[in-house]
Amino acid sequence: MRTQVGIVGAGPAGLLLSHLLHLEGIESVVVETRSREYVEHRVRAGVLEHGPVELLKQAGVGARLVREGLQHHGIELRFGGRGHRIDFPSLTGGRSITVYGQQEVVKDLIRARLAADGRILFEAGALGVDGVDSSAPLVRYRQGDHEGELSCDFVAGCDGSHGICRGAIPAGALTVYEKEYPFAWLGILAAASPSTEELIYAYHERGFALHSMRSPQIGRLYVQVRPDETLDGWPDERIWSELQARLALEGWSLTEGPILEKGITAMRSSVVEPIQYGRLFLAGDAAHIVPATGAKGLNLAVADVRVLAEALAAWYRHGRTDLLERYSATCLRRVWRAEHFSWWMTSMLHRFEGDGAFEQRLQLAQLRYVCGSRAAATTLAENYVGLESV
Ligand code: FAD
Ligand code: DHB
Repeated sequence: MRTQVGIVGAGPAGLLLSHLLHLEGIESVVVETRSREYVEHRVRAGVLEHGPVELLKQAGVGARLVREGLQHHGIELRFGGRGHRIDFPSLTGGRSITVYGQQEVVKDLIRARLAADGRILFEAGALGVDGVDSSAPLVRYRQGDHEGELSCDFVAGCDGSHGICRGAIPAGALTVYEKEYPFAWLGILAAASPSTEELIYAYHERGFALHSMRSPQIGRLYVQVRPDETLDGWPDERIWSELQARLALEGWSLTEGPILEKGITAMRSSVVEPIQYGRLFLAGDAAHIVPATGAKGLNLAVADVRVLAEALAAWYRHGRTDLLERYSATCLRRVWRAEHFSWWMTSMLHRFEGDGAFEQRLQLAQLRYVCGSRAAATTLAENYVGLESV
């Protein structure tokens, strides 16, 4: 099989890239190891920055997002028995965020691609990428008993943090920067109406907790757990009682309901440099991971493919190579800003085992500063809603 751009992975990065290229008249084929059903129901991120929302709308895949997404104008930081609101519009010139499940973005993109006769090969796992330093790279894949080859002009490695594309870059050409955080998040989706309209990030002596949502009927909540914990140790009652303890506030109560889904996510940072080698371009989680506290992973995936689609369009339309050559450097500026913001939010809000009273007082001092100083609140707000230029 032959196409112009071979895309590995039908997550938000791969699907949006395929769609943006289609709008530029560029052909692509997406190979995805999982089924359509699986990727459309994988519960993950939920916070979309202002920029990605505008991009999805402009690209004609934002109608349901506008209808069903929940626009939020602030978040609450809860600590020391009080809630403190950070107001986004007044701190960022009118910007806000939208809460809309990542799997809904994925559904909207798959529908748009298939409606335009786009080719997505589901249950087709890429085995390897060859010839990335030639002008005719190819993706080898297996779909059922069939082994196929996809030859293309460029390969986009959008295959997430466990994908194979990163491995196609020779070890000597690549530097990996990594950091593990000494905790994980246990996340649930519950048939429980949100107890507040906005997200609550809670700092508590028992550990961090986050109150989020997906709709007026469905809550999405997280608690900090030890990094080696499994779901076996967390029956539903324990999850709710921990959420109740960490989110507790006088005059406020947390609504419980049946848990529909639960999972544990490690908290880590990882950045590959460069994110391009020859004709292979990495995008999204294949290139970088952020700890979830800053809600940046999905947004970075969108930011990468916007840059990549523009660079590929300039190459196909005008033979320009400069934007492709700058792809890695352009994306990495935003990536490192997001890594810093995510590390900062993570450090401020979690309990670190081994920390004593001194470190905890530093965290509280920082939280009070963020809530009390307009300059500090602006730092949080402008990063959270997404910086226009980095
Ligand atoms: P993925 O979504 O991982 O997609 C990669 C795709 O490649 C997958 O479909 C995979 O099946 C496929 N694939 C892998 N290997 C192969 C192969 N060999 N061949 C073919 N296909 C392959 N981010 C935010 O911005 N905001 C949030 O609020 C947020 N919350 C999160 C909460 C949780 C619990 C988790 C886990 C993540 C969260 N994130 C958040 C991060 C966000 O979900 C990821 O950053 C996002 O999924 C990245 O998209 P992607 O397309 O790069 O990768
Ligand atoms: C959600 C996830 C996050 O990582 C975050 O920081 C905020 C919200 C969510 O899934 O809703």
